[in-house]
Amino acid sequence: MTDGAGQETRTDAQQPSAEAERAGVGGYPIPDNVFALTVTEVEHYTDRLFRFRTTRPDSFRFRSGEFAMIGLPNAEKPVYRAYSMASPAWDETLEFFSIKVPDGPLTQHLQKIVPGDTVLMRKKPTGTLVLDALLPGKRLYMFSTGTGIAPFASLIRDPETYEKFEQVILTHTCRLGAELRYGEELVAAMRDDPLVGELVEGRLIHYTSVTRDPDYPRQGRITMLLENGTLSKDLDVPPLSAQEDRVMICGSMAMLQDLKRICLTRGLEEGANNKPGHFVIEKAFAE
Ligand code: A2P
Repeated sequence: MTDGAGQETRTDAQQPSAEAERAGVGGYPIPDNVFALTVTEVEHYTDRLFRFRTTRPDSFRFRSGEFAMIGLPNAEKPVYRAYSMASPAWDETLEFFSIKVPDGPLTQHLQKIVPGDTVLMRKKPTGTLVLDALLPGKRLYMFSTGTGIAPFASLIRDPETYEKFEQVILTHTCRLGAELRYGEELVAAMRDDPLVGELVEGRLIHYTSVTRDPDYPRQGRITMLLENGTLSKDLDVPPLSAQEDRVMICGSMAMLQDLKRICLTRGLEEGANNKPGHFVIEKAFAE
C-alpha cells in the first residue's frame, strides 16, 4: 500500500473537538478524523503474521481493496501505517492482516492487542487496488506476497468482482507454508459458504507457492512461475495478455517492480482511479 503521507500531515495539524477529547482512550484525545475501533478477534499464524477483527463504525464506507491508516492510542501523536481492509465492503466488521516486526514503530505494539482493546483508524480510506481502476476484461489476476494478500481477501469476497470477471486468479507466495494459512482458510471458508460458495464455484483459483520451505509442494517466486510458463500451464490458461487479462499486484517494493516490468513487457498499461488500465499496483504494509 502507499505510504499515505499526505493524510499524516493533515491529522497532525488538526485539533481534537471537545467531544473527541471526552472520548479519549488511554488518556490521549481522539481527533475528529479518527475512528476508535474495538478489537473483537485476534489470530496469530506465525511469529511474523497475525490478523485481527474490529467493530465497524456505521459511517465508515470503503471500496473493497482500499486501505486506511491504522494506529494505537498510545501517544499524543500516534504512529500510523497503511492497512488494507481485508474484509469486503459489505461486511459489518473490519478485518486486517498484519506483519509483526520486533522493533517496528507500530507493529511491535499492535501485535500485542487482545479483544476489547482500542485501535485507531483515520476516517478516509483510499487506494488503487479497486475494480474501478481496471478496464473490463475476462480474467483478473491478483498477485500477492506476504501481507499483500489483504486487499484481495476483501475483493475475492465482493460479488462485484465476479460480475466484472469470468475468472479470478489469486496467487499468494510466502517464505513458508505456514504463512499461507490465512489465505488457505479464507478460501476454504468461502467455498463452504452457502451463498458465496455458489458464486465462486469454478471461477476463483487460489494459487500458492513458497520460497524457503522445501516441504511445500509448489516452489518459487510468482515472477519466476509467471515468466517460465509454469503458472499458465498449471492453470491451463493462455499466457498473460492485455486482450483478456487484468492484473492487481500487492507486495514488497521489489516484487511490485518485477511484476510491473513483466506486465509492461506483455503490453499491459498501468491504470489509476481516474484512468482505468490493464494493471494496478500497491505496496504491502512494511515497517
Ligand atoms: P524470497 O524468499 O525469494 O525472497 P517477504 O516475507 O520478505 O515479504 O517475502 C514474501 C515473498 O515474496 C517471499 O516468498 C519472497 O521470496 C517473495 N519475493 C521477494 N522479492 C520478490 C520479488 N522481487 N519478486 C517476486 N517475489 C519476491
